Amino acid sequence: MKILIAGGAGYLGSVLVPKLLERGYEVDVVDLFWFGNHLPEQTGIIHKDIFDISVEDLESYQQVIFLAGLSNDPMAEYSPSQNFIFNAAAPAYLAYVAKKASVKRYIYASSCSVYGYTDNELFDETRPVSSSYPYGISKLQGEQAVMNLLDDKFSVISLRKGTVCGYSPRMRLDLIVNTMFKNGLHNRDITINNPSIWRPIVSIEDATNAYVRAIEASERITGIFNIASGNYTVGEVGDLVKMAIEEQLGAHVHLTINHKSDFRNYKVSIEKAENVLSFHPNHDVKAIVKNLIENMDKFQDWDNPQYYNIETLKLLFANHGLHSLAGVGR
Ligand SMILES: NC(=O)c1ccc[n+]([C@@H]2O[C@H](COP(=O)([O-])OP(=O)(O)OC[C@H]3O[C@@H](n4cnc5c(N)ncnc54)[C@H](O)[C@@H]3O)[C@@H](O)[C@H]2O)c1
Repeated sequence: MKILIAGGAGYLGSVLVPKLLERGYEVDVVDLFWFGNHLPEQTGIIHKDIFDISVEDLESYQQVIFLAGLSNDPMAEYSPSQNFIFNAAAPAYLAYVAKKASVKRYIYASSCSVYGYTDNELFDETRPVSSSYPYGISKLQGEQAVMNLLDDKFSVISLRKGTVCGYSPRMRLDLIVNTMFKNGLHNRDITINNPSIWRPIVSIEDATNAYVRAIEASERITGIFNIASGNYTVGEVGDLVKMAIEEQLGAHVHLTINHKSDFRNYKVSIEKAENVLSFHPNHDVKAIVKNLIENMDKFQDWDNPQYYNIETLKLLFANHGLHSLAGVGR
């Protein structure tokens, strides 16, 4: 089977692509390579903006996966207009051309951030979504647009992931567990802005396994699925990261607890993904920290701007003008 992954050179794609190659799939990646190229040599590389993809370009693929866009709140808030183009219009355009090219399945990288601020209840996929910030609104718009194209011949799956954490060859240190790990090890201090806020967290191993399950699911399976390894309060995540660093690396870590308000607070049920996709996560926060410790020699240039999406975005704007990101990285 031949698969095209848009945004496949990013944090998630750089772990997913080797897994798919290992399973015998032919994988091409279309990407602007804002964060470089850390993909295996066997990957087919298409250095393009999604908006430059035509129907003819997609005719040889059975499945298309969307992993592109501006992938966190700070990026979305830095340029809300570019955010809505990259996160709402791009997945819709790609799904539209994929359907015209008779691609059989389209998988969309959604986010639990669509749930906004909830009242400490476990949310399944039928619960109302209520984000009022650019990233959450645009991820929902992208999801609604691609789900609207679903029919008997075009099988669409949307994976609403919690915050993904763990090691990737294209590393990010702006994701909750990864940030706490860096701060605990480098600064010997983990700052927790609000210990009572809930977040679903998903290890990069579990997250990429969810994509494998979606790719390999029967074409009759479609719909929206919450994906998480577990729900944690931010305070508990801080305790688990501190404990792991102290036990495994012998360094004392101080915790600084603040009580700042947050606009996101949610915990999700993954029962539907377990029952329909056979997605069974098995990497909790302890396992994520173990995975970071095992790979930490590879990202100790802690201040590399590529590890912080907002820093790279600011550099892209500075180097290419403030109006458009299209084609940046070509
Ligand atoms: N990382 C998380 O915690 C998380 C959680 C939930 C959802 N998601 C979603 O999953 C997806 C992947 O996340 P990630 O952390 O791997 O992101 P990332 O920022 O590491 O990678 C995004 C990639 O997309 C490419 N890209 C962006 N716009 C493009 C365009 N128009 N044309 C071609 N390439 C383009 C970039 O060059 C980059 O390589 C994103 O859509 C994100 O919103 C991520």
